[in-house]
Amino acid sequence: MKNSENMWRNLGDHWQRLAARPMAALFDENPARFAQFSLSLTPGGTDALLGLDYSKTALDAAARAALLDLARACDLDQGRKDLFGGQAINRTEHRAVLHMALRGTSDDFYARHDDPATNLMPMILAERGRFLAFAENVIHGRHCGATGKKIRHVINIGIGGSDLGPQMAVRALAAYHQPGAPAIHFVSNVDPAHWMDAVRGVDPNESLVIIASKTFTTSETMTNARAARAWLSAAVGEKNISNHLVALSTNIPLAQKFGVAEKNIFGFWDWVGGRYSLWSSIGLSLALAIGADNFLQFLAGARAMDRHFHDAEFGENLPVLLGLIGVWHRNLCGYTSRAVIPYSERLARLPAYLQQLDMESNGKSVGLDGVAVTRPTGPVVWGEPGTNAQHAFFQLLHQGRDIIPVEFILPLNARGDASLSAAQLQEQQNLLIANCLAQSEALATGESHASDPARDFAGNRPSVTILLRRLDPFHLGMLIALYEYRVFVEGKIWGINSFDQFGVELGKKLAMRILPALTHANAAISPVSQGLVRAIAAMRGVK
Ligand code: F6P
Repeated sequence: MKNSENMWRNLGDHWQRLAARPMAALFDENPARFAQFSLSLTPGGTDALLGLDYSKTALDAAARAALLDLARACDLDQGRKDLFGGQAINRTEHRAVLHMALRGTSDDFYARHDDPATNLMPMILAERGRFLAFAENVIHGRHCGATGKKIRHVINIGIGGSDLGPQMAVRALAAYHQPGAPAIHFVSNVDPAHWMDAVRGVDPNESLVIIASKTFTTSETMTNARAARAWLSAAVGEKNISNHLVALSTNIPLAQKFGVAEKNIFGFWDWVGGRYSLWSSIGLSLALAIGADNFLQFLAGARAMDRHFHDAEFGENLPVLLGLIGVWHRNLCGYTSRAVIPYSERLARLPAYLQQLDMESNGKSVGLDGVAVTRPTGPVVWGEPGTNAQHAFFQLLHQGRDIIPVEFILPLNARGDASLSAAQLQEQQNLLIANCLAQSEALATGESHASDPARDFAGNRPSVTILLRRLDPFHLGMLIALYEYRVFVEGKIWGINSFDQFGVELGKKLAMRILPALTHANAAISPVSQGLVRAIAAMRGVK
């Protein structure tokens, strides 16, 4: 890290040099700019599977080289070795970070520990085998409700990492849902409306409730789980509940105590962070939708990214470059947020998923050494699918005062179905692609209307575009793993622990302190909340 201050200074000079340079000029001066500032992943020499275009940023070759120097000075290489080597890099919680082993195979590179006691793969494969077999049994009607009815509805109760990943992926892979697979519903919010709306019209006799919680203590999840158990019990009888109740957790004793049958508990481990747990049994709802083979493809796609991140030189490494571009925008250009815009309706929940992945990981102010960091860390991440977003907030992206770098995500080769002719499918897909490209071009080049400033587009607004060959399980796995490693790269450069989340604790604690005051007028309460508690009591008609 010693040299890194020089690297930061050097990068500052590059930004001074490049800030005012029109992006269009970069393309005019260098016809090979796209080729030189884009990268694709082609495992085994196949055609491109995933491409990253970062030609529409202010970076030139010298600035990129300086960013790569920064990565080296920040010991990214050692960080990568420590990650895959299972070192306890989550220092505050004294844990390794090995969620990538969840997508491994028995001979994978991180499975080759000499000591069988530290080889994680046998237990990972055994648990994976159990939950995938369970998913297949449900899909094919071998696991039924207590009255023998086929399971037609699955309600996944969980929040944060126990909700956002599976929910995003179930929607993303709608084209791969299996015939006979149940409909998947997600309940996360403790707002009772979420539960009520999810199960309206759903027959408990045909339902499977999944309680997904790494800790099995999360207040929202346990509250909804109790509501679900009462709902099931009223319909099928308490003693028949076990066919309808599943738990996904690292806390097996608490799941058993709650009344989930041992055979219906699928575990994972404390070296899997909640926001990185989609690859574990937390992915059961996804497996119930797309089936075991597709789930394995999803893991295989992520594994292709694991290998790439592990093996590739920094200059050819997709997560490294995406992370460095993030650092460039955050720390050199000073941009405080980034928009993620998937040109795919099925990726509508990707921005929400990435918000947790990125902001819970890198929204930190204290370094690994326990000292306050001196530079900005994780930006605000937000977004919505295009083209809808164009008709909502793109005005601000093009003409607002703040510059917000955009990450366009563009899957190609959509799968059709009987509701659309092949020609119509192609026409709509082309329109989608043209819109995506048009937006990044407009942001980059702008358009001058000197006579009418209200119509002027300043341009020089950066974006990257990520191409996916198609939105299928394999490519989705790759994309998600790309973002996981990007978060890791940025966290390493900022010198923070990307794997704890103490920032969520204070609010949880205060909620439990305020709760009694909502029912007992004399409960002790901070003066900061007193006024609102009284106003609420008055509005609810409580004396
Ligand atoms: O409060 C934040 C958090 O701990 C997340 O990190 C996690 O994904 C979520 O709560 C849910 O936790 P659990 O899976 O233990 O219920």
